[in-house]
Amino acid sequence: MERTLLLIKPDGLQRGLAGRILTRFEEKGLKLIGLKLMMLSPELAAKHYAPHVERPFYPGLVKYMTSAPILAAVLEAPRVIDTMRTLMGATFGWKAEPGTIRGDFSNSTAYNLVHGSDSPENAEREIALFFNADELHSADRSIDTWLVSEDDQ
Ligand code: RTP
Ligand code: MG
Repeated sequence: MERTLLLIKPDGLQRGLAGRILTRFEEKGLKLIGLKLMMLSPELAAKHYAPHVERPFYPGLVKYMTSAPILAAVLEAPRVIDTMRTLMGATFGWKAEPGTIRGDFSNSTAYNLVHGSDSPENAEREIALFFNADELHSADRSIDTWLVSEDDQ
């Protein structure tokens, strides 16, 4: 079983798309085990985006991500890191495939609505930045027996 960090970015909340975005992941069968509405502080943004600190878009990215509230969430499922990034679509909204969140709702380079961890190592690092262990609740659900087969374990 894998976990990943989802951020619904400021444009997602400002545009009133948070519920629809969460619904996409819920409908896919990904289990929501943590959820938090927050302002991203410059300090936490710097830690989260440390791998991008040398990139030319970094200052603009931190400004965007700290400009208005975000929704942080943790999702759990087999292979959830790949699954979530597939549902998100390519980084740039104008390039992302229709049917993906970015492909359907974003036509921008930076304002692309969502963040998803890109590897197990980054997922572990990012989840620990946003959530304490006691803020995550991975309860069994009866529907899980229809979402996760023995082959998926
Ligand atoms: P994310 O980390 O947000 O899930 O997105 P990603 O993996 O698809 O893209 P990444 O390369 O990690 O970039 C992080 C975020 O920076 C903004 N960006 N702007 N102006 C630009 O060329 C540019 N490139 C990236 C996007 O908001 C991107 O999601
Ligand atoms: Mg990334």
